[in-house]
Amino acid sequence: MSRRALMAGNWKMHMNVVEGCRLAADVARTCEGVTDRDVLLAPPYTILSEVSHVLANTSIILSSQNVCWEEKGAFTGEISPTMLQDAGASAAIVGHSERRQIFGESDELINTRVKGALSFGILVILCIGETLDEREKGRTFSVLEEQVRKGLDGVTAAQIEHVVLAYEPVWAIGTGKTASKEQAQEAHAFLRELIEKMYEKNIADRIRILYGGSVKAANVDELMAQPDIDGALVGGAALDAESFGRIINFK
Ligand code: PGA
Repeated sequence: MSRRALMAGNWKMHMNVVEGCRLAADVARTCEGVTDRDVLLAPPYTILSEVSHVLANTSIILSSQNVCWEEKGAFTGEISPTMLQDAGASAAIVGHSERRQIFGESDELINTRVKGALSFGILVILCIGETLDEREKGRTFSVLEEQVRKGLDGVTAAQIEHVVLAYEPVWAIGTGKTASKEQAQEAHAFLRELIEKMYEKNIADRIRILYGGSVKAANVDELMAQPDIDGALVGGAALDAESFGRIINFK
C-alpha cells in the first residue's frame, strides 16, 4: 500500500509577517515541480492570512497549530475552525506535546478539538507520543493506545479520512535526539495495527502516520524508508528553507 508522503513544518512560536512570508515563499520555490508528495506549513495564527496569500498559487497546505471546536462564542484566546478557514487554512495540528505538557491539555479536551475541527472539514494532525519516563518504564504502547483511543473517541470511519497521526516521542522533540528508525517504525506499526482494531484494515492501510522529533536533513531519508512512516512533522529544521527543502525532497 503506498501512501502519499506528507512533509509538515511546525513553526511553533516563531516568525513575524515579513519573516514568515519570506520563508513560505522560499519553501514554495523548493517545492516547485514536486508533485508526488504533500507539503504543509503551520505558522502562528497571527500570520496565517499573509502566508496564505504567499501560498495562493501553490499546492502547499496551510495549517494552524491548534483549533477550537466551536464556531464562535465566549472562548477567550481561542480560534475557531471557520476563522482558520477565513484566514486561508485548511488543516490544524491538535494535541501537540507542548499543548499537553505546558498548557495542560488533556486527551478529553484534545478529543473535543479533533471532533470540532473535523465537523468543519478541517484536516486534523493528531499528535501523540510518550515521555522519556514512560518509555523507560516500558509504557510506550499503552500511552500511545490511550492517547489514540481517547483522542479519536467518537470519530467516525468517514471522518478518519481527514485525520493524520503524528508520532512524536516527547524526548525527541527539540532535543536533537531522534528516535532510531527501528524505534520509530515499531511505534508506527503499532499505531497502524491499533487503527485497524478501532476501524478496519482498509482505513489502517490508508491513514498517514508522520514521525516528529528532531527530523533533519541528515536523518530524513532513513526514517522515510521505513514502511510505516508516511511523512514528518518538523519543528526546528522547518524554520530554514534550505534544510526544510532538503527534508521535503527526501530520497
Ligand atoms: P523538532 O520539533 O523537529 O524541533 O524536534 C518537532 C515538533 O515538535 O513537531
